[in-house]
Amino acid sequence: MELFSQEDKMSSLISRNYTLLPVINRFGIRLGFKEKTIAEVCRENDINTDFFLAIVNTYTDENYFPEAELLSFSPVLLIDYLKNTHRYYIEYVLPKIEQLLNQVLLSCKDNCSSLKMISTFYQKYKAELLLHLQLEDEKVFPYIIDLYKHKKLNTNGSSIEVIENEHTNVEVKLSDLKSLIIRHMPPNYDDNTMNEFLTALFQFENDLNDHARIEDHILITQVLEFEKELRK
Ligand SMILES: [Fe+2]
Ligand SMILES: [Fe+2]
Repeated sequence: MELFSQEDKMSSLISRNYTLLPVINRFGIRLGFKEKTIAEVCRENDINTDFFLAIVNTYTDENYFPEAELLSFSPVLLIDYLKNTHRYYIEYVLPKIEQLLNQVLLSCKDNCSSLKMISTFYQKYKAELLLHLQLEDEKVFPYIIDLYKHKKLNTNGSSIEVIENEHTNVEVKLSDLKSLIIRHMPPNYDDNTMNEFLTALFQFENDLNDHARIEDHILITQVLEFEKELRK
């Protein structure tokens, strides 16, 4: 897909890639753009246009990854965006997925033990994901903000490398969950409801992968470089 530039109409951004709807919301941008360009909408909402473009293009083309460009933005800007994404997962995506899963369970007539196993698997996955998001919100992000504010390394030696090791691979579990359903589950549920549930999992997986890519390749890289500078 062609990359977006600041002269493009904001409405064309959504027409060309509707999966960006929640992404623009995380920036505080809402629909009703009229004929305004991306640059105009960003200016009105007090958003750094280059940062906005780097993010939406990252989601639009998986081969586009403006590491050099994104590395030049303040980690505080990135953290703000990442925190909004966490909130979107916790308050909207996870409850929505759970609601769909409950509908699938309700649609099962008999011998629903494998579906119940899927439900248990999902609950475990959710607990792990929530723990991961909490770790980032309560430990990783405050550590980074503090580091940039005081420009001083923590005396107890806590560096991002320690935190990065705790970065569990929740993406793998999500992929296992999908594969379990697609390959092994007896189809004793309503097909349309299951399709809706699976579609939500696929969308979430894509969003989560892009999110993790930004954290691992951009944020962590920036912080490691900054820590190295401070150690000099
Ligand atoms: Fe995160
Ligand atoms: Fe993460």
